[in-house]
Amino acid sequence: MGEGAKPENERRKFRAIKGTRDILPPATDLWNWFEKTARGVMESYNFAEIRTPIFEETELFARSIGVETDVVNKEMYTFAVGEIQRQDSLEELVEAVESAWRDGAIERTGENEQHVSKIRDIYQAVRSGAGAATAITHQFGSGVIWSQINEINRLVGELSLKLTLRPEATASVCRAYIEHGMQMLPGNTKLYYIGPMFRRERPQKGRYRQFYQIGAEVLGTSDAPAIDAELIQMLTDLLERCQVEKYMLLINSIGCASCRPKYVELLRAELRKPEIFSKLGADSQRRVETNPLRVMDSKLPEEQPIIEKLPKISEHLCEECSAHFEKLKRELTLREVPFTESPRLVRGLDYYMRTTFEITSPILGAQNALCGGGRYDGLVEMLGGPKGIKGIGFALGEDRFIDAIVEAHKIHATRPLDIFIAWMGERAYPTAVRLAHVLRDEKHRVELPAGEMKFRKALERADKLGARYVLIIGDDEIASDMLTIKRLSDGVQEKISEEALVDFFRPPALAKEGPGS
Ligand code: HAM
Repeated sequence: MGEGAKPENERRKFRAIKGTRDILPPATDLWNWFEKTARGVMESYNFAEIRTPIFEETELFARSIGVETDVVNKEMYTFAVGEIQRQDSLEELVEAVESAWRDGAIERTGENEQHVSKIRDIYQAVRSGAGAATAITHQFGSGVIWSQINEINRLVGELSLKLTLRPEATASVCRAYIEHGMQMLPGNTKLYYIGPMFRRERPQKGRYRQFYQIGAEVLGTSDAPAIDAELIQMLTDLLERCQVEKYMLLINSIGCASCRPKYVELLRAELRKPEIFSKLGADSQRRVETNPLRVMDSKLPEEQPIIEKLPKISEHLCEECSAHFEKLKRELTLREVPFTESPRLVRGLDYYMRTTFEITSPILGAQNALCGGGRYDGLVEMLGGPKGIKGIGFALGEDRFIDAIVEAHKIHATRPLDIFIAWMGERAYPTAVRLAHVLRDEKHRVELPAGEMKFRKALERADKLGARYVLIIGDDEIASDMLTIKRLSDGVQEKISEEALVDFFRPPALAKEGPGS
């Protein structure tokens, strides 16, 4: 054991990493109920599930979301993976590079080609200087060789791929759409996903570093406003299904490649004015030049009065964008979806164009955005996909949605155990095991104690576990061939035959209900 090393068996407690959390039972029951409900609603709109990897090439997110966004700029969990494994000798390392290059494991960019050729040159130089003794792990006499080896290692590092834990899934869905040629599918492709996302944000209530999203994307050649409206209606349907009534739908249009640049210039000119510029924070000051639209979604309280007075994009839309937005509003009205126009809603990701929307909830506190989304018509093409593919989607924050459901219902997630089997005596045990199986086949939640318990203890345990019924099987029951069922809510007890057992527990006796049941 080296000096300062900890003995292997020293006790140490671990905690979840800051910004991550365990979601425990009974809360997980509510999460599962919500996911099932969301799947049901989305499938009723003919969306099908897609599951994409948790990590992707960093470049995918940087390109899609935009390098000047907070997400890419500050919040991504990125790590380098050596496509090229470390090797014991320089010779083997260079051979690994050569073979990765031949197999296409290293991306064939001009820059990588230069790196590979430099590695070859340096290796030749080392070989001619150091003969065959090129073991990396062994000491060399010459400092020159060390610096050459370091340079090779650096270049190999550059060749390695950078991966990022997904901060969102729209980019991944577009990548998958292109990779699998989904534009060949008939009509619009309608996909949904459920899963964890990762952003290195400052943790607080409703804001985590690992959080969960449920999202949906529509990809295809049409950008009819009816698609936008239907997607939004799907969300309000979900809110209704969860009986969350207090929410606000905000909508906006942020224009297209033809009208937005002019607006951005106008905005930049306004923001450059010394009396405005001097009042902005460092991030916004930088963004005046790099991406002024990002200033609009700044959350800094001291910048809010300035942002309020900036020119509104909705007043600078081209004719097509304006018509698209008007049609969207008519389509929402047709569907009886109430909305509020919010000219400041530019969203925090760069891929959007035209429609943007958010749903906020007043019951959530500071992190009040339940979900957000919008149109991203140029993204598929920008990621190397076919021309003319349009897209629109949303993602809702599951963590926040659950909070909203709990708040709206004033419920505490409970875990109702359907049936606790109180068995007493050796002779009752085989019957208890058999009936537990029969009832579980019926999809009831059944607890079968592993050891025999005294009757009173068994009842106490059943009560503490929140059981709705206790199935009692003791000597009397075995002798009489009749089972006893006790309903814990009111203590009513009755005898039934084994044949009648399954029917007894069918609804309404054990109806499964909505959130919190
Ligand atoms: P987003 O607005 O970045 O959009 O995130 C969507 C939702 O995810 C937010 O409204 C919020 O409820 C939740 N969320 C975001 N960050 C956190 C966090 N740190 N902790 C808890 N919840 C969070 C997107 O991600 C886009 N991909 C949406 C989209 C899909 N646009 C088009 N298609």
